[in-house]
Amino acid sequence: MLIDGHGREVNYLRISVTERCNFRCQYCMPEKPFSWVPKENLLSFEELFLFVKVAIDNGVNKIRLTGGEPLLRENLDGFIKMISDYKPDIDLALTTNAYLLPQSAQQLKDAGLKRLNISLDSLKADVAGKIAGKDVLGQVLKGIDKALEVGLKVKINMVPLKGINDNEILDIMEYSKAKNIKVRFIEYMENAHADQTLKGMHGKEILSKVKERYTIRALGREGASPSFNYLIEELDYEFGLIDPHKHDFCENCNRIRLTAEGNLIPCLYFDEALSIAEAVKKGDIEGASKVLAKVLKDKPKENRWSEEELEDREISTRAFYETGG
Ligand code: GTP
Ligand code: 5AD
Ligand code: SF4
Repeated sequence: MLIDGHGREVNYLRISVTERCNFRCQYCMPEKPFSWVPKENLLSFEELFLFVKVAIDNGVNKIRLTGGEPLLRENLDGFIKMISDYKPDIDLALTTNAYLLPQSAQQLKDAGLKRLNISLDSLKADVAGKIAGKDVLGQVLKGIDKALEVGLKVKINMVPLKGINDNEILDIMEYSKAKNIKVRFIEYMENAHADQTLKGMHGKEILSKVKERYTIRALGREGASPSFNYLIEELDYEFGLIDPHKHDFCENCNRIRLTAEGNLIPCLYFDEALSIAEAVKKGDIEGASKVLAKVLKDKPKENRWSEEELEDREISTRAFYETGG
C-alpha cells in the first residue's frame, strides 16, 4: 500500500502519454505551449510500463491515461494491452477530447480499456469551436456515440466559463441524461497557460443554474473521487461537481501524476516533480521505487486554488496539457 506524508492512501496513477494536442482549449493552451518537450525526451511505452508495474505491485489499482490528447500517441492500444494483461481487474480509463474516437474506440475497447472521460464544453458548434480553437463539435459528438456503441463506459466533463458557455449547463446535463451518462461540471482552475481573460464559475454558481429548473439533493463525494455528487430528484439522475476551490477538496486525495518525459508530480497545482526517467531507462526498479517514495512523502497537503484571496498569491504555473488535468 502507498501512503503519503499526510496519511492518505494513494492508489490512483494518472499517466500523461503526450503533452501534444489537436485542440487549443482556452482554459489549457489557447496559443501554443511555452515550449514542447522534444520527442527524444519522451519515455517509451516499455519504460513507462516498468514504472506502471512498480506502482501496481505497491497497491495502485486505478490508472488513467491522459494527455495533451492521448489518442495522438502512436500505439496507445498496445500500451493499454500491456497494462490490462498485467492486471486485468485494474480500473483502466482514458481522458480524451474525443476528436479521434470515431476511428479508435473499438481498438481501445479491444485492448482492454474500460472507461472514457470526455470533455464536452458546448453543444453549439460556434461556442465549442471558440473554446477548442477549431471546429470540433460534430466529430466530438460522433466520438461519444462511437464509444457508447462499442461498450465503453463514458463520463462527460464540462468546464463552465462566464459569458461563454455558462448558459449551457442545463443543456449539457439534459444531453448527458438522454445518453444515460454522467456529467461532471468542473470549476475552471486558474493557471498561467490559460487565456487570462477567462472567468470560471464557482461551484455554488453552477449549482444555482441547475436549481433554476430542478430540485437537487447532495449525495456526497464517492470515496476519494474529485467529484461531489448530486441527485436531480425530478429526473432521478446523478451528476457531479468537481470543486477544487473548496477548502476540503484535497482531504482524501489518492492520486499522483506521471508525465510523458517521466516527471512524477505529487499535485496538479504545484510545479514540483521528481524524475523517474533515469531509473526506468536503466531498468532500475529500486531506483524508481525510491523516487516514488520521496514524491509520496513530500506530497502537498492541499492545492492553493482553495485559498479565497486569489489576487494575493501567484497563479499556478503547472500546465494542464502536461498533466492531463
Ligand atoms: P473518475 O475516475 O472517472 O472519477 O476520473 P477523474 O475525475 O479522476 O478524471 P478526469 O480526468 O475526468 O478528471 C476530471 C477533472 O478533475 C479534470 O479537470 C481534472 O483536472 C480534475 N482533477 C482530477 N484530479 C484532480 C486533483 O487532484 N486536483 C485538482 N485540483 N483537480 C483534479
Ligand atoms: N480548469 C479546469 N479543468 C480543466 N481541464 C483542462 N484545463 C482545465 C482548467 N484550467 C479539464 C478538461 C478535461 C480534463 C483533461 O481537464 O476539461 O476534461
Ligand atoms: Fe487539449 Fe485537453 Fe488541453 Fe483541450 S484541455 S487543449 S483537449 S489537452
